[in-house]
Amino acid sequence: MEWDYQTLLQKAEDARRNAYAPYSHYAVGACLIGQNGSLYTGCNVENASSGCCICAERTAVAKAVAEGVHAFGAIAVVGGETGEQGDFCPPCGICRQVLAEFCPKDMPVVLRRDGKPFALTMGDLLPYAFDLET
Ligand code: THU
Repeated sequence: MEWDYQTLLQKAEDARRNAYAPYSHYAVGACLIGQNGSLYTGCNVENASSGCCICAERTAVAKAVAEGVHAFGAIAVVGGETGEQGDFCPPCGICRQVLAEFCPKDMPVVLRRDGKPFALTMGDLLPYAFDLET
C-alpha cells in the first residue's frame, strides 16, 4: 500500500491528539510505515519524573518492533502546543539514533513546515551515524 505524505502527516496529527503531555504542553505525533505496508502511530508520553518521557517517534518504533516489524519505508512527525495544529518538529537526537537502527539513510522523514509537507531523509538528519559495521 502506498501512502502519500499528506495522508501520513494526517495520521501523525491524529495520533498527536492522544499525546500525554501535561508537563510540557507540547504534543507530538508520529506515523511510521512498516515495510509490510502497515502503519504504526505514536505520541509522546510524559511523566512526573521527566527522564521517563517517551517521544512519539520511539513509541511508534516500539509498537512496530513489538509486532515483529523491523523495516520501514517512511515516517511522518508533527508537533506543537497542545490544542493547536501540529507543525515543524524535527526528531530529537535520541529518536534519530533509534530510527537509524532500523531505517535506511535514504528513508523519507516527512515533517510539516508552515503547514506544508517538508521531506528530509534519515541521512540528512543523522549524517555519519554510528554503526558497528562501519
Ligand atoms: N518530543 C517528541 O515526542 N519527539 C521529539 O522528537 C522531540 C520531543 C516530546 C518530548 C516531550 O514530551 C515534549 O516533546 C517536549 O519536549
